[in-house]
Amino acid sequence: SILARLDRPVVLVGLMGAGKSCIGKRLASHLGLPFVDADREIEIAAGGCTIPEIFAMHGEAAFRDGERRVIQRLLGNPVHILATGGGAFVDPNTRALVKERGLSIWIRADLDLLVKRVSRRNNRPLLQNVDPRTKLAELMTLRDPFYAEADIIVDSADGPPEVTLGRVLEAL
Ligand code: S3P
Repeated sequence: SILARLDRPVVLVGLMGAGKSCIGKRLASHLGLPFVDADREIEIAAGGCTIPEIFAMHGEAAFRDGERRVIQRLLGNPVHILATGGGAFVDPNTRALVKERGLSIWIRADLDLLVKRVSRRNNRPLLQNVDPRTKLAELMTLRDPFYAEADIIVDSADGPPEVTLGRVLEAL
């Protein structure tokens, strides 16, 4: 079984709107494993400040440092499903930690799907005061080469999450 073979945390990576948290929660409940959202853990570590507040008060570089520390700590936990923020696997240090201690899965989605999904929530500092499609296209160009270093690549389906979940289970 998948569960018997998993010896490391499963780490979901990919752009904002790809569905990392959505698929991560479903994967965890399917396998009976804990689900952890790195962004939520960063907010807790920041004393309850939200991600936009952390960006506004301390800047992106400080956020990345905090993100790396939190992910490093979480990777020490027993097998679980970890959803990361879109920039985590792009940071060289965080990526090295995830590659060393986790099983990484890139949840890949095309631009139309990302745009559709991010428009549902407006809590992403990198998408404030910019055209989301332009910004996401730019981030895809910059980041896809790093996401491609993940152990497993799964295409996000434009449909019920169960379809993407099925693809993840097949790949594991
Ligand atoms: C970021 C993605 C966000 C969050 C922060 C920065 C990024 O997470 O970590 O706003 O750099 O792509 P999601 O991918 O969960 O939206």
